[in-house]
Order: sequence, then C-alpha cells, then structure tokens
Amino acid sequence: MPFLKTRIYRGTPRNLAMLASALQRGELVAVPTETVYGLAGNAFSTDACAAIFRAKGRPANDPLIVHIHDLAQLDQLAHRNPAVEKLARAFWPGPLTLVLPKKDTVPDLATSGLPSVAVRMPAHPLFRALLKKCGLPLVAPSANPFGYISPTCAAHVRDGLRGKIRHILNGGDCDIGLESTIVDLRGPRCPKILRPGKIGAAEIARVLRVPVTAAAKKRPAKTARAELAPGMLSKHYSPKTPVVLHARITPALIARIPKNEAVLPLFASEKLRDENIFPLSEKQDLGEAAHNLFAALRALDGPEKIWKRIHAELAPASPALKDRALAAALNDRLTRAAA
Ligand code: TXA
Ligand code: MG
Repeated sequence: MPFLKTRIYRGTPRNLAMLASALQRGELVAVPTETVYGLAGNAFSTDACAAIFRAKGRPANDPLIVHIHDLAQLDQLAHRNPAVEKLARAFWPGPLTLVLPKKDTVPDLATSGLPSVAVRMPAHPLFRALLKKCGLPLVAPSANPFGYISPTCAAHVRDGLRGKIRHILNGGDCDIGLESTIVDLRGPRCPKILRPGKIGAAEIARVLRVPVTAAAKKRPAKTARAELAPGMLSKHYSPKTPVVLHARITPALIARIPKNEAVLPLFASEKLRDENIFPLSEKQDLGEAAHNLFAALRALDGPEKIWKRIHAELAPASPALKDRALAAALNDRLTRAAA
C-alpha cells in the first residue's frame, strides 16, 4: 500500500465541500460521530468498501454499518417495517444501528455477504453536514486498526491510521465515547440487541411495546454464536497492555497492586489517590466514565509510559435504572478489552 499524507481538517464549509467531493470520487474520510470516529466511504462503491477493509486490516467477514442522512436514503438500502419508523422517530439521529433485510444496491462486500444490512443515522452535526453535501449513504466502521481501541478524537485516528488514509475531519471529542447499540430488527416483533450501547433494551421495548432480547452476556454456546453480530469477537477494543477486571476497586485492593501497574476506577474519591490511579469520572457519573474510557485506555497503553498491567473497574451489576444500558455497554467493552 502506498504511504498517504494524512491531514486533519476543521469543519469549515470549504473543507466540507472538498471532503464531500473526495467521498464522491471514492476516497475515504475519517469522520466524527457522537459515538466514536468512523472511517467513511461511498456505501454503493465496492472499491471504497475494499479500501476501508484494507486501511483497517479488517477481515472480510466483519460487515460495515451504513450511515444515512435521512429516511429517504434508508429506502435505497434496506426494507423497512413498522418498527423502523417508531425507532427512527424515537432515537434517530442518534446512537442506534438497525439490522434490516438489505436491497441489492448494497455491495456484498459491505455486508460480508449477509442478506441483511446495518444502518444508522448519526447525530454529529459535522458528519450530518458531510452526508448531506455528498448525497451518498456512507459505510463507516470505527476508524481504528482492526482489534484496537476505537478512536474518540481526531488524534486517535491519526495515531492509528497515519499513512493509510488522506483525510480526517476534526469534530472534537466524541460525546458518548462507546459505539452505537446494534439491534437486529428483521423480526419487528422480536428485536434482539446484538451489541449493547447507550440506548438500552428497556428504552427500545418501551417504544416498540414488545420484549427486547438483550445481548448475550457470556460467550454463547456454539449454536447461539450465529445470533451474535458477526465480527463481534470476544477479543476486541484491546490495548496491548494486559487488562485485569475488578468488580470493585477499593483501598485494600490498591494496597496490593504494585506501583508499576495502572488503576482505572470508575469514579474519583479521596481514598483513591496515587500516581498510578486514573479515575474515569470526577463527577461520579457513568456517562462521563464511558466518555473517557477509550481515551484513558489509549493513554495508559504507551508510548509515554509503559504500565505492566491496567486494572479496570466494572460498572455495578445493578446500577440505577437510568444507567442500566450504559453499565451493560461499559462492561461489554471492558470484558472485550480484557479478553
Ligand atoms: O457507533 C458506531 O456504530 C460506530 C460509528 C462509526 O458509527 N461504528 C462502528 O462500526 O462501531 P464497527 O465496524 O466498528 O462495528 C460494526 C459492527 C460489526 O462488527 C458487526 O458486528 C455489526 O456492526 N454489523 C454490521 N453489519 C451487520 C449485519 N448485517 N448483521 C449483524 N451485525 C452487523
Ligand atoms: Mg469497531
């Protein structure tokens, strides 16, 4: 692969017009979303899809999410059902991805040969502006080398994909910091969560008035594996430094952890202060912890300082109702980072 000069662009009207033309020519652009940065390309172009898999080093059996600007674009890609309208009205634009029967317009490469396609309408204003300007649905996986931690700012994208892509649109830090919730909506009366995210099973059930199957918690039996989102490997989102999980990080635990190992409690507290302790939230807020998780894992993963291990704290098993979805999403990503 040739070495490309990678540039970060501010979201000025002129830059957006230039990046929209690049997308129309089949080039790739890394884009900000409210969840994590994505590596976007024309969803109708097999060449653009192939370039995405190449730049990420992603295996071909891990399908891409298509990002749309409006519901008219959805009809170019997928077959709707009544549940789609309800969820779209409640949660789009936003961090919810729907798996639907695909139309022939979507290249097989984008969906790894599956008869379904994953679609999402993102909320970040700069990405929305770019989608509108280029007039194309855009496939966009997270903009990281395959298997590494998803990027939540433009510098993360550059660190991972420098030389492999030309364009990065800078939209600041991602608001949520964890990838979208993925729901299989092919059976509108039996939606299944394939990947937990900020929008939880309870919220979706409230809108659809049907039960929603939550994501499999443990590694599923072989027979159930086909139910999972393909490409959802148990090892994913992984720093190079080994991650050890704890149900709770307490002063007694810290006393046993050597100083060359980093500790990542969810919340700051007076009792947890030391040079190897990096709380994810100063405000005791799970949303803030989620927002900071990937950046914290990256920062502790070198190259500045090499920690022998990273000790991370799981979200509580029975969180407040409003935090339930985020807790499940956080624990899903932490478990994968530690796999
Ligand atoms: O928040 C997000 O969803 C971010 C931003 C950029 O939008 N994107 C993202 O994409 O996380 P990616 O490629 O890292 O994860 C997409 C996952 C795939 O690994 C796969 O598990 C699932 O979406 N997926 C895609 N198409 C699918 C399909 N047809 N059926 C089931 N799962 C699918
Ligand atoms: Mg990813």
